[in-house]
Order: sequence, then C-alpha cells, then structure tokens
Amino acid sequence: VITVQIIGTGKVARQLAIRFRESVLITLKAIAGRDQHACGNIRDLVSDTVICTDLDSLLSTDIIILAVTDTAIATVSDKIDARGALVLHTSGSVPMAALKNHKRYGVLYPLQSFSESNRVDWDTVPVCIEAHTVSDLDIVRTIASVLSPKIFEVTTAQRKHLHVAAVFANNFANHCFTMAQEICEKHTIPFELLHPLILETATKAITQEPDKSQTGPAMRGDKEIILAHLETLDTEPKEIYRVLTNAITHYYGRKKL
Ligand SMILES: NC(=O)c1ccc[n+]([C@@H]2O[C@H](COP(=O)([O-])OP(=O)(O)OC[C@H]3O[C@@H](n4cnc5c(N)ncnc54)[C@H](OP(=O)(O)O)[C@@H]3O)[C@@H](O)[C@H]2O)c1
Repeated sequence: VITVQIIGTGKVARQLAIRFRESVLITLKAIAGRDQHACGNIRDLVSDTVICTDLDSLLSTDIIILAVTDTAIATVSDKIDARGALVLHTSGSVPMAALKNHKRYGVLYPLQSFSESNRVDWDTVPVCIEAHTVSDLDIVRTIASVLSPKIFEVTTAQRKHLHVAAVFANNFANHCFTMAQEICEKHTIPFELLHPLILETATKAITQEPDKSQTGPAMRGDKEIILAHLETLDTEPKEIYRVLTNAITHYYGRKKL
C-alpha cells in the first residue's frame, strides 16, 4: 500500500481524495491546507480516519501531492519538509523543476476541467505523468493507474504546449459558447436551440477531426453574410468574430477580409 497526503483543499484535491478512497492500493492519510474548515469538509467526504494538518505539521507518507494554485506551487514546495517522500504537483503549466528543492519529485496532471460540484468521471480523464528519475516514474505511473486507465508520459516542455492546446479546446471554445448564449439572450432566443449544435460540434471534432468538420460563412468565403453578421455585433464579439473569421478563411486558403 502506498501512503499519500494531499496539500490543498480545492477542486482537484477533492476529486483526488474521492478517487483514492475507492482504491485498495492507496491509503490517503492526510489532507493539509491553510483552510482547516475546507480540510474538514473533504475529510468528512472521504473518511474520518483521514487527518487534517497544516503545512508545518505534515505526516510522513510515501507521496505528497501539491494540489495548490499554480502560483503557490514553488512557495509551498519550498516551505514543506518532505522527509524523503516523492513530491508531485498536478498542474498543466508549472514545470516539474518547480519542485526541485526535493530529492524526489514529479508531476501528476489530470487533463480535465474540474469544477466545485460535478464529480469527475476519472475513467475518462487522461493523466499526464513525469518524474525526475526512472524509478519514481514507475511510482507515479502506479498512482496514476489508480486514477485512470489513460496514462501518458508527457515532458514539461510538451505539457506547456498541451496546456496551450487545452486552452483553445476548452476555454476559448467555451467563451464562444458564452458569446453565443449572450447573443441569444439579447434577442430573446432560448439558448437551448443551440444545445444540439454544441454537442454535435464537439462530437464531430473527435470523430471526423475538427478541420474536416468545419462549415459556415468563413470557410465558404461568403463575404456578404460575414459583413451582415458583423453589423449586428457589439464591439467585443465583433472583434472576436473578425479574428476568427480571418483565421478560418486563412486556414482554408481563401483571401483575408
Ligand atoms: N481545476 C481544474 O480544472 C484543474 C485541472 C487540472 C489541473 N489543475 C491544477 O491543479 C492545481 C489545483 O487546482 P484547483 O482547481 O484544485 O485549485 P483551487 O480549487 O483554486 O484550489 C487551490 C488550493 O490551493 C490552496 N492555496 C493557494 N495558495 C496557497 C498558498 N500560498 N499556500 C497554501 N495553499 C494555497 C488553496 O487554499 P485556500 O482555499 O486557502 O486559498 C486551495 O486549497 C493547480 O495546479 C491547477 O493548475 C486544475
């Protein structure tokens, strides 16, 4: 059995704790956080045998997982005495070397968008792993296998690019959905009219490849419709519409607006 403690009491910490509770391979011994109330909430969720500690009184465990805000990873890492434990962070954008003040360190990055309430379907989540030594990579792989069957070895440099790709696939696409919703609401159209289209877009991006499933005025180079659309938009969505239209037109080899 591998003993683990999690530092952090946020979204990722919570989902990790829930998953570890279901594993016979891992014993979650403690959750450490600066907010003891949040700590207690997770402990109540997973098991009353899990201890809440603060950062200065960590237990001895095989693994310490820093599930804290990206900007706090290096600071928290510097602050803790790992006592020989393998220290991991869960970030998509922080280099593994942020933990290099410890002898043993690595990364356990679950590539999914975690929210406060929804329970994550771990079996579908790709887990990207990295470690400073080959032997520790095996241990990180074992921990990752408790979370998900989808394990990928990804270097710090690759993870940086992967995170940028994830911003396009998730944050930017989602902001487009937000703008679509705002346009609907402004003109008293139920947003639910677009629900099937949103699902179809995501499904086709996977089943047919995104560039093969593109349609619409920009791809066709239909200038008349594009100009008519631009006339209806406020400044901010207009700017985004223009940038994306130019990008699509350029991608499909047509003339820029
Ligand atoms: N959310 C996602 O979708 C997602 C997905 C994959 C990976 N990740 C990565 O997982 C990590 C945690 O993300 P999250 O979404 O769980 O964040 P979160 O919900 O915002 O929680 C962040 C946690 O970090 C703690 N923290 C922040 N600054 C700290 C400091 N200086 N000292 C000690 N603790 C501090 C917070 O404590 P307080 O509550 O006291 O502020 C909180 O417990 C990040 O590296 C993130 O990039 C997130």
